[in-house]
Amino acid sequence: MANKDMSIVPGPIGVFDSGYGGLTILDKIRNELPEYDYIYLGDNARTPYGTRSFDVVYQYTLESVKKLFDMGCHLVILGCNTASAKALRSIQQHDLPLIDKERRVLGVIRPTVEVLDQVTVTKHVGMFATPGTVKSDSYLLEIQKLFPDIRLTSEACPMWVPLIENNEHLSPGADYFVKQHVDNLLNLDAKIDTIILGCTHYPLILPTLLKFLPKHIRVITQGEIVAKSLRTYLDNHPKMRKKCTTKGSVVYYTTETVEKFASMASIFLKEHVLAVNIQL
Ligand code: DGL
Repeated sequence: MANKDMSIVPGPIGVFDSGYGGLTILDKIRNELPEYDYIYLGDNARTPYGTRSFDVVYQYTLESVKKLFDMGCHLVILGCNTASAKALRSIQQHDLPLIDKERRVLGVIRPTVEVLDQVTVTKHVGMFATPGTVKSDSYLLEIQKLFPDIRLTSEACPMWVPLIENNEHLSPGADYFVKQHVDNLLNLDAKIDTIILGCTHYPLILPTLLKFLPKHIRVITQGEIVAKSLRTYLDNHPKMRKKCTTKGSVVYYTTETVEKFASMASIFLKEHVLAVNIQL
């Protein structure tokens, strides 16, 4: 449970992911809102989440959110579609009222769905995501709420996160696993004109993906969308804004070794990263 006294002391904004994928979100958030302080937490020791059960993803995500609260965050962004799909609603509805009614946890699915109607013309949208996100039907449910005329076809890509986490996503071997899923998706719906990359790791595999995607298809990556949505959220919630400190700092925490995190994170961020090990 969050410390009582800490509940009024301003703190950094927390960004969470199962591994490195959330760095693609943090990167764009920092471009959009450089003045805030951030804590990034990657549960790298237990990644990937995408092939785990609902209960396990919920449990792991809740542990990480509580840790970020304990480190002083009032606002946590789940920079992970799998966690947003499987844990966000339960945390918002069941856990936050018990932990601290004033703290907030936001996900990446709603902001992504909100822009869809500005992009698709055919109203046929495809999505690549982890098996967990696809199985949860979270995107489908959100789309049905906001844009019932949009048809979503999803393709689970269980190999893409391991390829990226092992820095093999641009190798010739990756071509096979990417082309296979592009063919599957477009065979299911040839009218798709827009594809959501529904996993925060996937922007890294985009160069390989673009080799196999027809040129007319628009690809939606989430970083800038989530960053703009966070700006709007903070503009509309001045009470929360005042609880977010503004020295422009970022601290990276990992449940894996510091050396492993630093070498991989530098591939995601294209800059040298120092991390701190943390036990959940
Ligand atoms: N980055 C996570 C997401 O957006 C997936 C990684 C994983 O499978 O752990 O879904």
